[in-house]
Amino acid sequence: MSVKILVIHGPNLNLLGKREPSVYGLQTLSEINSELETLAQKLDVELKIIQSNSEGGIVSFIHDNADWADGLIINPAAYTHTSVAIRDAISAVGLPAVEVHISNVFKREDFRHFSYISPVAVGVICGFGGNGYLLALQAIVKEVNKRKGGNF
Ligand code: DQA
Repeated sequence: MSVKILVIHGPNLNLLGKREPSVYGLQTLSEINSELETLAQKLDVELKIIQSNSEGGIVSFIHDNADWADGLIINPAAYTHTSVAIRDAISAVGLPAVEVHISNVFKREDFRHFSYISPVAVGVICGFGGNGYLLALQAIVKEVNKRKGGNF
């Protein structure tokens, strides 16, 4: 049975490609998503992908898909640094999570060094551009299979 993974892109990530290219690169969100879909097919993974500019939208998406999913990949974007609600939603559903950031947040302003999400994530990938999502997909699939007791 294939592994089922939620991919959640937070606020302003719909603007990737146009948004501060010196920080976030030129890759668009749809290019990142299609690379994710290609890798998912190879790994026999089903994805549900959303981008939302609203905190409540992200919380509801996590709730609504908790029974379907085995794990999640999230770039909470600016909500990383502000959202107790998204952190609580991840804790509440108990799904293993990988946090992704396109930029290396630790090279940037101090306010980006704190994450509400990291303490409830299995791990964090940052600074590898859009490739971070592909690394995250491999990591979450291994984590899910480990939890299911598979030999991966
Ligand atoms: C980001 C980093 C955040 O600090 C920022 O607010 C974003 C994007 C990243 O992917 O590098 O919107 O999560």
